[in-house]
Amino acid sequence: MRGILITFEGIDGCGKSTIAADVARRIAKVEGPPFAGRRFLFTAEPTKGEEGLLIREKLKRSSKRAVGQEVADSLTPKAETRSTLRSREAEDLEELFLFMADHARHLKETVIPALERGEIVISDRYSDSRVAYQGVTLQGIIPRTLEWVRELHQPWSIVPERTILFSIDPSLAVQRCRARADGSPKEKTNGPEKFEDEEFLGEVAANFELMARNEPERFVVIDAAQGKAEVLKETMEALAEILEKNRSEA
Ligand code: TYD
Repeated sequence: MRGILITFEGIDGCGKSTIAADVARRIAKVEGPPFAGRRFLFTAEPTKGEEGLLIREKLKRSSKRAVGQEVADSLTPKAETRSTLRSREAEDLEELFLFMADHARHLKETVIPALERGEIVISDRYSDSRVAYQGVTLQGIIPRTLEWVRELHQPWSIVPERTILFSIDPSLAVQRCRARADGSPKEKTNGPEKFEDEEFLGEVAANFELMARNEPERFVVIDAAQGKAEVLKETMEALAEILEKNRSEA
């Protein structure tokens, strides 16, 4: 049987990483088709590889700078604003290319070998995160931003067979991020907080929704504001359907 690439996407705080961990636990216990007898590989972007760690460091540094920058901006005379903007543009481009480098290594070292072994690869974030997030950060810098980011992947990346989008209202997502940070000192100091802003996440969410509308055959949209048990149930149902289809086509 051939391998299948499935991705989980959504804005920060949508709960997809928790659901991915729950899915892994649930799958290990299910007996019988379509889950039993298939090998699963759970993975994520940014990865824990060299580039992934660099990205996390950078996101932490930029979140600190973003807070300091608000004060600096209010003190900066208008004439100097342009140079601030240029350095931000450079930083946003650098970020995109680091995510791309991480993706190239992820494909080569993890995703492609697993697909070749016939495994079901489930990636917590993948190229659509770039289209949705960097589609916002690079707006005004790159024309036709979403298309450009997508086209950058097109010649060498692999399009997922199915993508589960965990859809949630940005204000609820931000509340969840804050609750998570308050509950865990580790998350508070280590978590990438750069993107955990309601207005920003609203634009990212709109990009995800747009992608889901444009590719209804690839996207499965799950309402992530429901209780965890319901989200897990719907995710397992979606996965079962994807695997059944793969079995019948094999
Ligand atoms: P992630 O580890 O998934 O964060 P969380 O578990 O808090 O959702 O991703 C870190 C951040 O990086 C997250 O805010 C989303 C962002 N991101 C991008 O902006 N572009 C990308 O291509 C990827 C993979 C992530």
